[in-house]
Amino acid sequence: MTVFQSQAVDADLTRHAIFLVVLIAEDEASARAAGALLGNVAGLVRAVGFRSADGQLSCVTGIGAAAWDRIYGGTRPKELRPFREIRGVHHAPTTPGDLLFHIRAMRMDLCFELARQIMDQLGPSATVADEVHGFAYFDRRDLLGFVDGTENPSGGEAVDATLIGGEDAAFAGGSYVIVQKYLHDLTAWDRLPVEQQERIIGRKKLSDIELSEAEKPSYAHNALTVITDEAGDQVQILRDNMPFGDVGKGEFGTYFIGYARSPGRVERMLENMFVGNPPGNYDRLLDFSRAVTGTLFFVPSAALLEQADAGGMAPVAKDQDEITQPARSDGSLGIGSLKGGETA
Ligand code: HEM
Repeated sequence: MTVFQSQAVDADLTRHAIFLVVLIAEDEASARAAGALLGNVAGLVRAVGFRSADGQLSCVTGIGAAAWDRIYGGTRPKELRPFREIRGVHHAPTTPGDLLFHIRAMRMDLCFELARQIMDQLGPSATVADEVHGFAYFDRRDLLGFVDGTENPSGGEAVDATLIGGEDAAFAGGSYVIVQKYLHDLTAWDRLPVEQQERIIGRKKLSDIELSEAEKPSYAHNALTVITDEAGDQVQILRDNMPFGDVGKGEFGTYFIGYARSPGRVERMLENMFVGNPPGNYDRLLDFSRAVTGTLFFVPSAALLEQADAGGMAPVAKDQDEITQPARSDGSLGIGSLKGGETA
């Protein structure tokens, strides 16, 4: 039985993260250098991570649409495309990015060392478009003061939400990820009465309890980001947002990161937030939070990524009959496995 392992998309929550968005130079040698690095990221994670048994170092690597064509050519994952700018009540810009490294660990030194080794291997072939160092803030709160991540799917639901199955069998075990960097106007936010902040988020601030249907406005963040399929069933994504900031610059933000088996899910949520559902009924969170970046990446399965330095990333997963999550340090297989052939 062939087993195709996904990357650590659903890695456990950590205290630290680095979100590294990288640009690859236009020449062929740089594309080759990037291919070589991609095939070796897992080795770098092993080398850096092994130095701290309880550090939980992981890295998820994503590849942008243009970079995919330049580095590998050949068949593109079906839904790999550039991030679509949205001009609604608020603006979601699209910004450049060839590779994403989502680095997570319980210690910042592990994240930092891995980011350094990755950039060292890429050398002059790459420049950093955006680098954000995120930290867990008290009991998983964002800088607006609300607990962020509560309604994330877990276990089999997380697998189903994030991993591609039979709908694009050649890339089964892969995923898509959209990242956006948001900057908050904390002064204006803090002037709002807590009850109004709670209506905007859709949950109680201190206790994190969800507002009742009667209390929750149709513009609440957790009303606009709950979406369903044609059958009326909720379809989910997996988030691992992190606060970041720079007190000297007065910069306070949330780095949004959303994984899904189809980027269309995240795009629909963004449409609801920025344009509104119905149009005009937009997410008031955006009156206080400005998106300054927006990029979409494909996350190949671990097996496919490791093939990268062997002369190209051929989509060979057609004969796969099982997809698994990466093995955990406790020897278990994380959140279980998904039989190939399942669809969104
Ligand atoms: C400024 C940026 C953002 C902040 C501060 C933020 C914060 C929050 C908070 C506090 C919650 C409630 C707790 C929870 O269930 O996690 C939440 C829920 C959620 N957010 Fe966001 N969020 C942001 C951007 C986004 C974006 C861009 C998306 C999707 C495109 C999104 C999708 C969701 C989803 C799906 C939920 C769960 C809804 C539910 O099932 O109840 N968020 N967010």
